[in-house]
Amino acid sequence: MRFSTGTPASAPDIAEMVARRAVGYSLEAPFYTSEEVYDLDLDVIFGKHWLFACTEAELAEPGDYVTLDVGRHSIIIVRDDDGNVRSLRNVCRHRGSRILENPCGSVGNLVCPYHQWTYRTDGSLIFAEGQPPSFDRQRFGLKSVSVRTVAGLVLVCLSDEPPTDIDEVAAVIEPYLAPYRLQDAKVAHQIDLIEGGNWKLVMENNRECQHCDVGHPELLSAYFAFGLYAEGDDRPRMRAVLERYRAAEARLQSACAATSIPLGGHRELDGRPTGYQISHLPLDGAGISFGAAGAQLSRRLMGQIAVPQFGDMSLHLQPNSWFHMLSDHAVVFRAVPVAPDKTLVRTTWLVNADAVEGVDYDIDSLTAVWSATNDQDRAFVEMAQRGASDPGYEPGPFAAIEGDVEAFDNWYIERLREHLGLNEAHQALLTQASGQ
Ligand code: FES
Ligand SMILES: [Fe+2]
Repeated sequence: MRFSTGTPASAPDIAEMVARRAVGYSLEAPFYTSEEVYDLDLDVIFGKHWLFACTEAELAEPGDYVTLDVGRHSIIIVRDDDGNVRSLRNVCRHRGSRILENPCGSVGNLVCPYHQWTYRTDGSLIFAEGQPPSFDRQRFGLKSVSVRTVAGLVLVCLSDEPPTDIDEVAAVIEPYLAPYRLQDAKVAHQIDLIEGGNWKLVMENNRECQHCDVGHPELLSAYFAFGLYAEGDDRPRMRAVLERYRAAEARLQSACAATSIPLGGHRELDGRPTGYQISHLPLDGAGISFGAAGAQLSRRLMGQIAVPQFGDMSLHLQPNSWFHMLSDHAVVFRAVPVAPDKTLVRTTWLVNADAVEGVDYDIDSLTAVWSATNDQDRAFVEMAQRGASDPGYEPGPFAAIEGDVEAFDNWYIERLREHLGLNEAHQALLTQASGQ
């Protein structure tokens, strides 16, 4: 099989690369390195799918806003005066100026800094100086962008025809998330990190924990050490881990039953536009949170969670987010591409709205594990980017433990295939022509 390398000698034939993509292998270099693929990703993946933008906790009061820049698009997500979450184009209807430049903040109205056209937080235009009496303000409200909330998570879609399977996905995940009351939570801390790697390397790295044994000593202390476990492994050390795990699992199951949270998980990471996975696993040690040996980090539990030992509710949403919900806090991750080899990763820590900093939690302890883990992951992603850019790189095979990475790549290729109109017959022709 012939592969394109990361050397930018000529524009890659994207359709050919999509058609010959080998299932079970990482992607060819240009998927991680080329400007053409990056532009296509912005258009097809980030322009047509539901993107995780922020949590409702970041929009606590009317006028609170977050801006999200995706390629050339800029979106305002704002809570309007009636308490609804709105998503608006950050483009003034006068002569097009950006209206808000900050990543987040709070406004009374949305006032364009150029000539002060003024919009309500629902996007309607209320002031435009110097226009004739015949001017119809109603025609010049800010353009809206599709938005929906799912148990406190705010998703936006730039397409005029957003994927409709979001309703089905929301119906599955809402019962898992609802008891955490993310819409009422408080933002304890937020960190933006630029990782020097393509957004898909960031997502692939997140979707596996094969690297955790050596890469994330702080994070690993909260989880059961199953990284090297094989079915039937009877070593005394693994037996002890398994026994602890079974006891913790039984505790978690009865806690879920008591709070009517569904048991088990769902995994549909590919095969649909809005790929997702939700799982709920017990934690090791004290079994509560990401503190040392599983210790609790915030004294007040989230929402309606009644017991501290409530494991890790983990959610993955394609294309750009992942979440860990613990009994005492939640950690929320959003990845947004900013260049072919750069990705902005925003991490947000949420706690119960009544939790008081310095009394119920402190920022350094709350954020220690994931700050360290993020930094370790950034280094992995940057190494992977350097490797994928080397002419010596060619796609390599996934291990069984990397099933979610493979599912992410499958989902991505499916989305491109659909966009490019590659049916099976067309694909076979391309594969033949490429000389495989
Ligand atoms: S461009 Fe916004 S008021 Fe003129
Ligand atoms: Fe990692």
